[in-house]
Amino acid sequence: MLPEEVAALILADAVRLRTSMREVATRFFSKHPELDYMKPVVRVLSLGVARNYLLLDHVLASLGYGPPSHSTNWMLARVLVFEALSNKLKPSRARKLAPKAGVDADKLLDLRGANPREFVKGLGGIDKLSVLYSFPRWVLEELLSAGIDNIAQLLQSLNRDPVRWIRVRPGISVAELATRLARHGIVIEPDKDLDDVAMIARGASKAPHTPEYQQGLFVLQDKASALVGHVAEPYNKVGVDPTAGAAIKASHLAWLGARYVIAGDVKAQRLGEAKHTLRRLKLGHLVDLVVGDARKPYLSRYGTVIVDPPCSDIGRLQYEPEVKLWLTRGDVRFYRRLQYRILRAILEAAPRGARVVYSVCTLTYSETIWVVKKVLSEIAEAEIVEPEPLIGEKPRKMPKAQRLLPNLHRTQGFFITKFIKL
Ligand SMILES: C[S@@+](CC[C@H](N)C(=O)[O-])C[C@H]1O[C@@H](n2cnc3c(N)ncnc32)[C@H](O)[C@@H]1O
Repeated sequence: MLPEEVAALILADAVRLRTSMREVATRFFSKHPELDYMKPVVRVLSLGVARNYLLLDHVLASLGYGPPSHSTNWMLARVLVFEALSNKLKPSRARKLAPKAGVDADKLLDLRGANPREFVKGLGGIDKLSVLYSFPRWVLEELLSAGIDNIAQLLQSLNRDPVRWIRVRPGISVAELATRLARHGIVIEPDKDLDDVAMIARGASKAPHTPEYQQGLFVLQDKASALVGHVAEPYNKVGVDPTAGAAIKASHLAWLGARYVIAGDVKAQRLGEAKHTLRRLKLGHLVDLVVGDARKPYLSRYGTVIVDPPCSDIGRLQYEPEVKLWLTRGDVRFYRRLQYRILRAILEAAPRGARVVYSVCTLTYSETIWVVKKVLSEIAEAEIVEPEPLIGEKPRKMPKAQRLLPNLHRTQGFFITKFIKL
C-alpha cells in the first residue's frame, strides 16, 4: 500500500465512523506496524485533504469529475489533487494511483504547482470563502451571524496547526517546569495572561511521554479552556462540572482551590477517562465522580458550576479538521438544544448566588449567543456578568461574554459566559 492509499482509507473511515482521524490512524498502524515509516507523510496528506476538501472537489469538478462523495476512491482523488497542488506528486505515483481514483494521470500532473486561487476566480463573496477555505457555506453564515470580523483570517487559521498549551500544577513554577522539560528537548514559555499556563514553543509531541507529565506536574490544555476555570473562580466553594468528560476542567477547579469538586457525565466511559486524569494528578480525594444526566440536575447546593456541554467543535478544527466533512446544520441544531436544556436545568436548580459558567469550543451563533439569550429570556433569576479575566474579545452582539479566536488569541475558538443566580 502507498501512503496516498493509506491516507484515503483513513479519511474515508473517519467520515464513515465520525471518529477522529487520529483514532482511525492509531488503529490502522497498530494492525500494520510494517507501514510505520509512512506515518509522517500520511499525516500531512490526510490533514491537507480534510482542511481543503471543498477546494479539492472544486478543482476535480473543473477537470470534469464529480459529483463528490466520501468514498475511499474519491478520497484518493482528493489526495492526489492535494499532492499535485503542493507540487509533490511524482509522475510514477500519478500513473499508478490515478486509475484507482478514476481520474486521468496527465490531468493531475498538469495541476502541479498551480495556484489554488486561480480555481475560485469566478466565485464571489461567501461562496469564494467557502470553497477557498473549505468550510460549508452554512458554517460561514453562522460565523457571520455571530458578528465575527475578519472571517477570512479566522478560516485561514482554523486550517493551520494549533498552538499547544499546558496548565501547570500549583506549587511548581513555570520557570522550574521549563528547566525540567528542557532536558527532554521541550521548550515552554510562560503565558502573559494566566500564571498557571504556558505555551509549548518546541517539542509538543514529546510532552505526554515525560516523567513530569506522568507525575502530574502539568496537564495538556488549551489556554482558552484553562481560562474557563479562572472565570469560574471556585475558591473555597463546592465546584461542579456536570458534563465533565475527562475531568480536565474539573481538575482545574480542584487546583484553583475549590473545597471539593463533583464531576458528572452521562457516559460512564468518559468518567473512566476522568479517573485516569485524577489519578495522575493525585486529585482522587478531592473529586467525586457521578454518572448522571445534566438535564436533570442531581445536586442543588453548590457555589460554582461549569457547563461545558457537547458542541460542534468548530473551535477545535485545528486539531480535527475532519469534523468539517460530516458536520451538518442539523448537528448544530441538536447541540444548541442540548446545550440550552442543560444550561436551563442547571440554572433553575442553582442556589441563589451560585456562579454558572457556560463554555463551548465553538463559534456558531446558534450554540453561543442564541443559547444564552434564550436562557436569559426564560429565567428571570439569572443574569450574566463580565467573565473576568478578560483575555478574548467582547462579541458585539453580547458584550458581557468573551470569545477567543485562533487568529487573534492563538487559542482554540471558544465562547465563555458567566451567569449569577439571583
Ligand atoms: C465538551 S465535553 C466536556 C469536557 C470537560 N468539561 C473537560 O474539560 O474535560 C462534553 C461532555 O458532556 C457529556 N454529556 C453529553 N450529554 C450529557 C448529558 N445530558 N449530561 C451529562 N453529560 C453529558 C459528554 O459525554 C462529554 O463527555
